[in-house]
Formats: sequence, structure tokens, C-alpha cells
Amino acid sequence: MRNVRPYDPNSTAAASAENANAPALFNQRVKKANTSALGKPGIHESAIKHVTGTAKYVDDIPELPGTLHMAAGGSAYAHANILAMDLDEVANSPGVVAVYTYEDVPGELDVAPVFDGDPLLAPGVTQFVGQPIFLVVAETYEQAQQALPLAKVEYEPLPANITLAEGLAGGEKVLPDNVITRGDADAAIASATHQLQGEGYIAGQEHFYLEGQISLAWPTEDGGMHIHTSSQHPTEVQKLVAEVLHIGSHLVTAEVRRMGGGFGGKESQAAVLACSAALAAYHLQRPVKYRLPRRADMERTGKRHDFGFEYRIGFDNEGVIAGIDLTLAGLCGCSADLSQGIVDRALFHADNGYYLNQARVTGLAPRNHIVSNTAFRGFGGPQGMLAIESIIDDVARAVGEDPLTVRKLNLYRPGADTTHYGQTIDQLVLAEIIGSLEQSADYWQRREAINGFNSSNTYLKKGLALTPVKFGISFTSTHLNQGSALVHVYTDGTILVTHGGTEMGQGLYTKIAQLVAAEFGVDSAHVQVSATRTDKIANGSPTAASAGTDLNGFAACNACQEIKGNLIEFAVRHFNVSAEQVVFANNQVSVGEQTISFAELCRVAYMNRVCLMAHGFYKTPKIYFDRATNQGHPFYYFANGAACAEVIIDCLTGEYKVERVDILHDVGRSINPALDIGQIEGGFIQGMGWLTSEDLLWDSQGRVISNSPANYKIPTAFDVPRHFHVGLYEGANPESTVFNSKAVGEPPLMLGIAVWAALRDACASVAEHKFNPRLDAPATPEKVLAAVNAALAFTEEGSSNA
Ligand code: MTE
Ligand code: HPA
Ligand code: MOS
Repeated sequence: MRNVRPYDPNSTAAASAENANAPALFNQRVKKANTSALGKPGIHESAIKHVTGTAKYVDDIPELPGTLHMAAGGSAYAHANILAMDLDEVANSPGVVAVYTYEDVPGELDVAPVFDGDPLLAPGVTQFVGQPIFLVVAETYEQAQQALPLAKVEYEPLPANITLAEGLAGGEKVLPDNVITRGDADAAIASATHQLQGEGYIAGQEHFYLEGQISLAWPTEDGGMHIHTSSQHPTEVQKLVAEVLHIGSHLVTAEVRRMGGGFGGKESQAAVLACSAALAAYHLQRPVKYRLPRRADMERTGKRHDFGFEYRIGFDNEGVIAGIDLTLAGLCGCSADLSQGIVDRALFHADNGYYLNQARVTGLAPRNHIVSNTAFRGFGGPQGMLAIESIIDDVARAVGEDPLTVRKLNLYRPGADTTHYGQTIDQLVLAEIIGSLEQSADYWQRREAINGFNSSNTYLKKGLALTPVKFGISFTSTHLNQGSALVHVYTDGTILVTHGGTEMGQGLYTKIAQLVAAEFGVDSAHVQVSATRTDKIANGSPTAASAGTDLNGFAACNACQEIKGNLIEFAVRHFNVSAEQVVFANNQVSVGEQTISFAELCRVAYMNRVCLMAHGFYKTPKIYFDRATNQGHPFYYFANGAACAEVIIDCLTGEYKVERVDILHDVGRSINPALDIGQIEGGFIQGMGWLTSEDLLWDSQGRVISNSPANYKIPTAFDVPRHFHVGLYEGANPESTVFNSKAVGEPPLMLGIAVWAALRDACASVAEHKFNPRLDAPATPEKVLAAVNAALAFTEEGSSNA
């Protein structure tokens, strides 16, 4: 055979092979990121590409000759009959090539993920402002945008329910009510020493991914479609494009290399863009790109659900819960979309870490005439959790205890370790996590100091809170808990992995490269993770529910095991050793006395006709759930954590600052602590933004008025607390997940609840914690000021009564 110098992914020779004359920085582009060994901190597989601008997103793919651009005309009314639509001027506008309405859809019009209700283009009746009613295709992006206002549409406006209260009063539901019960909540509340009732409102959240929604459709020579899309769910994009075009799924390929953030917003709703672009590409047989301008993205795509809650609770003198009746109503919008799973997950997290005792937890899903709300990091869990955390604070104030004391008393504990939906909590770690954070964050000393500060300051008040998180890991739709991966080992010892998960910045590809590298005992720089494609991996689940690594990482390991099995069997025969004598480590394989490179073993195995590729499959064990009884074991395990936040508020303006945050979070045995800490920091800040500055606003006509970064404020680097300590809880996942790690994507978002609770604590301090003012989320300065004033009014009333 030819004598070829072995490939070394870390050599500068490899880097400059691409472009010998390019400057050094440019050469970084082709040098593979050297993510590190399992369990060690390592950089994101695309980190260098991200910061040098060479990471390609859909809009960076060079346009093929003839590529056209799409824009959609949207409904002017929240709810209306379309009486007439004259699109002649749109069609005659410069550069316009075609205009389509719902009548041009050859196959299925509905592109809903689970239950029907999301037409690609409104067929006569519109359900929200901005709902697409026609599509325009033009030679340029600008020409498509410029044609939109030329449409003449005649509407007959219909009554519209915009707010959650209007939706509930309207009586229409997108899903039936769902009630989880254990025991007799009413009797337990009635016979408890104390009763309390209350309500609250938790507003939604705009995803604000950096890369907006986008899809690019290329017609193929076989009458099919190749879709480049920014989607968390390529398989659903493939399926819906096939249905809309009325062709087989085998003719449609959806491909996702990466997203510039998804956060749940691209789980179901990316498909609308893919199907729209594919519709035009199919009719015109030309490539079509559809990218939403930021404003349209903010107005026309679903957000986190607002939730309203009402409760009655009974408890003893110490604040231990005897019974609770809690109703959670989600602002689903005009259709079901993923709301069933979201409302379910809110109900499943209405306990957070606490034993609710006798419980009735009800979920309502009213219909509104606004865009259909959708998945957002936590998927309803954060809203359920915020409700119970708010209630625990109410109980603590009622019994005159520090909220942390009441939190600790109510934690799941031996003898009280089963959730209201029947799952026993096997790993009771919250007490330990809270205890450890209480120490490291000096909770009680700081409480003392804050009390001192507050009694000597009239206008500035400090607040402190320590709140836990217990988040269930697994899709609550059991069938989605499966993953697939395809591993190719080439004769030079390099490895290509394709799996069902998508990369949205969270580091999934990096972790999978680390896992595969560890299986073969090679550096992760020898492993390339390819774009996710439905022609490589069939019937994939969305990358969601934080389960990307658990599902696809395990599947990849299973594929590696199969290939390793082939290699070992071959080595046993070829080198005449026992299977135990074949050891993969340090890019080498020792076979008995001798050691050869991994590449050499692959080459020799190939020459001896050994298969070096495999498909791996994984399905999560132990999970089941009966929707009829609402009992079961929906989660494989729980991810846990706790955060302690200190804030300072200005009682004259309501303005505030987050002074210090301490976090201890459970990621099991970390595959990559750098990525995990990044997820914890990012998740926490995103959760803090949701509960503080991000204020979604609609006008009375149902128009989103928080429709740009100028009027919707996400946290910036300046909002990161000056003192910000993140620690990883040391403890492996007792379940046999990959590397005994735990999912990390969503749970840390809910650590942000500590900031909200600390703000409410500061407001309550105005009334010496004898009164707990209502503080709806987001706790903007206006709401903090109102809460301060409510606390002041309470104190003044108290003193005038005395
Ligand atoms: N992190 C980044 N950087 N960008 C994202 O879009 N999405 C979150 C979380 N972390 C997201 C992220 C959400 S909503 C989920 S469900 C998980 O990542 C999905 O990825 P995983 O299953 O691989 O953790
Ligand atoms: N979480 C996130 N996304 C989902 C789920 C879930 O539980 N079920 C369906 N899509
Ligand atoms: Mo995440 S909300 O499950 O995409």
C-alpha cells in the first residue's frame, strides 16, 4: 500500500492544507476545535467558528442561481372573516414572481404538530393579527417585503379574546381541562390549622433567539425537496413538507447544521417557514428562501405561555402543607400547538420540590385570538414552579417564618416522597443541595445583615431568597423518548457521527463527539459530528425536553459499541489474542503485547472486510404514564438545583439591582463542566430576564407591541450579577444515563425564580414581612413600585387601626 502520513487533526499542516496562503486566523477555521476528554472542561465544537464569524447559518449558505425570496402577508385583525382579497397589485409589484394563498396548497393545509388547528395560510377566517394569509415570492428579499402592503383585503371583524381573562370568559378551549388529584384536598384544607387563598399572574416570554426563523427550500430532480432549516425538529419539518406537497417523506430531506438559538421556539413553529418555502419551490421549481424580519418574527411566532393561577391551601403552625387546590390556566393562543404537553408539565411541576399532601391540581387551556404559544425552555414547568414558590412564600409570611425554613420543611422526604402524579422520588437530594448552598452563600448571616440594613434605610431595601429546582427529565409524551445515531469509522481512523439531535448552541455536538471519542479511546478532534439530516436519521424526536444528550448520546455509544464489537472480534482472530486483551486508549489499540494506532487497526480491519459503520438506537427505560388516571412514572429522573439571590430595590422608583447570586446545580457526572456551567449561567440569566425585565405587551386589538429590541428588554451583560457563583453538585446520576450525567438544558432557567422571590422579599420588608404583596411576573420596576406601595398601605392601615 501507499505510505501516507497519518492525518493529524491538530497539526497546523492540516489547518493550512485548506488555504496555504491564508492568514493564521483564517486557518483556525479548518482546524478542529479540540474538545477534551469525557468529564473535562472543553470548548464548544464551534466556538472558534462562532467568534470568527465562520459558523454557517441558513442565511450564510451561498445562494444557488435563481434563488427567490419569500414574505407573508398577515391578517390585520385578531379574528375576522376574509370577505375579499385582491392581490393583483402585489403580483405586479417589481420583482414579484408569484403569489400564493391557501388554495395553492396541493396537499394538507394544516401544519400543526399534534392536534389540528394551524393552517399554513388562513382559509377564510383569521385567528390572530399577523396570521399569514398570502405568500409573495420575489427576486429579492426587499422586493418581497415591498409588495406586501399592496394587498387589498376586505375583512369582517369578529369578536376577539385577547387577554387570558377574556379567553377564560369566552369559554372556548383548545384542549380539555386536566385534573391531577391525590386524596381529598378540600377536606384536608378545611381541617387544617390555617387556610390561605390567593392568585397570581405570570406573563410569557419572547424567545429572542439571535438567528431568526428561516428556511431554504431546494427542489430536487426527483420531484422532492431539500430543506435547510433552523429547526429543532427536522423530522417534523420533513413530514409536514411532504404532507403539504402531498409527496412521500422519502422525497424530502430536512437538514440542520446549527441554529443560532432555539429555546423551544423552533420546536414546532419552524415548520411553517419550511412548508411555505417548499410550497413556492415546488410550484416554481426554483430555490426559495424564507427569512422572517425580526419584527415579524416577534409578532407572528408563539412565545412562552402566560399562566394565571388561583389557589387555596391548608397548613399547620409551622407551614407544613396539609392540602392544596391549585388551578393553572395557560394562555395557549389560537390553537393547541404543543400546549397539551406544556400545561401537563406545568401540572407536573406544581410541586417543585415539595410534598403537596392532599392535592387537586387543575390545568385549563382556553382559546384566545393571539398567536399560538409554544415551547420555551422549561415547557410549562417554570410557570408551575413559580406558582408554588409564590404560594410557599405566602404560607411563610402567614406563619411568620423565614421562607427558607418553610421550604425546607415541605421538601420531599422519606415517607412523603411521592408526587401528586404517583412518581416516587428516588433521589432525595434537595435538602443536601439547599443545606450546602445555605452554608456557602452565608444565608443566615446575610439575612441578619439585610434585616439590619432594611431597618436603618427607608428608601433602599434589600431582599434575599433561596429557592430550589426539581425538574423532570423525559418527554412527557413517552414515545418521543428515543434517539438514533449513525457512526462511520473510516480507514484513516477518523470518525463521522450523525445523530437525531440538533445543535442550537447548547453543546450537544460537542458532548456527542466527546462520548464517541471516549468509546474508541481517541481524541475528540478525530471525531466530526455532521449536520443533522433526515436522510441519515429517520423518525427523530425534536431536540427538546433537555434530553438531547441522554437520547442521542446513548444511541451514539450503542453504535460505537457495535463497531468496537466488530473490531474486537476481528482483532481476536487476526492477532490471536483474547477479547480482554484488546484495549482502546490514547488513539491506539493494544492487542496483547503489541500496540498499533487506531487508524492502523481500522485499515487492516477494512482489508479483512470488517464493517466499520453502525446505527445505534436508544429508548429511555422505566417510563410510563396513564393519561386516563394521570398517574405513572413520566420522568426517568429529576435534575436538581438551588439558587440564592440578593437584590436591592429603590422604594421611590421601583428600580432594582441583583447584587449577588449563588447557585449549586446538579448535572450528575458532568460530561463537560465548561458547557454545563455555560448552560447554567445562560439558563439562569434567561430565567431572570423572564421574571424581571422582559415585558410582552399586546394592545387591545391583539397587536403585539413589544415587537423589537427597543421595546422588549432581554438581559444584557450589564445585568449579570456582580457576584455570580456557580457550583456543580458532586454526585453521579444514579440512573444509567451516558456517563451517569444529567440533562442540563432547561432546569437552570428556573433558578431565576430566586431573583423574583428576593424582589418580593424586599417589597415585603417594607411591611416587616407581615404582609406579602402581590408581585406578578415580570417584576418590572413598575410592579415592584406597586408592591412597595401595597406594603406601605398595609403598614399604614395597621398603624391607623392600632
Ligand atoms: N442553549 C442554547 N445556547 N441555545 C438554545 O437554544 N435551548 C434550551 C437548552 N439550552 C437552548 C439552550 C432548550 S429549550 C432545550 S430543550 C435544550 O437546550 C435542548 O438541548 P439538549 O436537549 O441538548 O439539552
Ligand atoms: N418537553 C419539551 N418538548 C416537548 C415535550 C416535553 O415534555 N413533549 C413534546 N415536546
Ligand atoms: Mo426545549 S422548550 O424543550 O425546546
